[in-house]
Amino acid sequence: MNTKATAIAPVNIAFIKYWGKKDEVLRLPANKSISMNIDNLLTTTTVEFIPGLQADSITVNGSPLTKGNDRVIAHLDRVRALASIDEKAKVVSKFNFPMGTGLSSSASGFAALTVAAVNAAGISLNQQDLSILTRQGSGSACRSIPDGFAEWLDGDSGETSYAISIFPSDWWDIRDVVVILTSQQKEVTSTEGQRLHTTSPFFDQRLQHMKTKIDSIKQYIRQKDFHSFGELIESEALEMHAVMITSRPPLLYWTPETLTLMKHVMRWRSEGLGVYFTINTGQNVHLICRPKDEDKVVQLVQSVFPEATIISNKPANGAKTTLNHLF
Ligand code: PMV
Repeated sequence: MNTKATAIAPVNIAFIKYWGKKDEVLRLPANKSISMNIDNLLTTTTVEFIPGLQADSITVNGSPLTKGNDRVIAHLDRVRALASIDEKAKVVSKFNFPMGTGLSSSASGFAALTVAAVNAAGISLNQQDLSILTRQGSGSACRSIPDGFAEWLDGDSGETSYAISIFPSDWWDIRDVVVILTSQQKEVTSTEGQRLHTTSPFFDQRLQHMKTKIDSIKQYIRQKDFHSFGELIESEALEMHAVMITSRPPLLYWTPETLTLMKHVMRWRSEGLGVYFTINTGQNVHLICRPKDEDKVVQLVQSVFPEATIISNKPANGAKTTLNHLF
């Protein structure tokens, strides 16, 4: 057994989103989804299984984890079961961006935890099995395992639902300008919010055209057709939020600033700039553009929101081990 290992994992931004599960326990998504790993929103996690340790100890950004502790322990239990060990673990994680604000910290978090824990436990899993295991901790995290652009196959069992790379990270140089409008934590987590999906009258409609959406986005990425791609990802984000807003009770993750930025993006586009937004479960926004427009996009956002934190990203590879341990 290696006992100690460290992994670094990226956030992935979903272009066609995962919203709603067909199996809550197995975390099987209602539909396939398509994403891209990004290179500057990262989690680094070190895991060590220590003989004699009384309980799992989990530290995130220098403080003991309070919210979500049980979920991390349940995930460590899955790894212990696979490795046939029972040592408790010391886990230390560092996120380089605010958690719980709609930037998919659970994706990079559970991908890094899985890769670090599996290596620390001394077991070797292929990429498919790693993605399957990661999915059980956090659905969207399974897409942070393979490189570049990924497709999460919804599957009909625990063993058939995992993410695969559909294009490498250097296939298409597009940029994701992440705009952190505020670091205020969301009130309803994605896991809680997802349970409401069937209460929206639009959810079934959404599922009916999912296959067409998935086929189209793959075709646009393959052809590097930026405008068709941008229009589809923006309308997809709005559609997912339409389902959320029309759920009972309603889930409204946007703040007035989110809406202001969305309106500006639409105006900038009408003035000829190639930029599109996508938003997950929170107030913060991802702006997708081509490299030639990145500086302009950053400058325009700064002019409207001088206080915002802006993090520019390129397509990236999936979770990897590193020898730079955190303890
Ligand atoms: O994996 P979860 O439960 O954090 O859900 C994430 C869902 C979205 O971020 C809103 C969409 C997605 O596919 O990433």
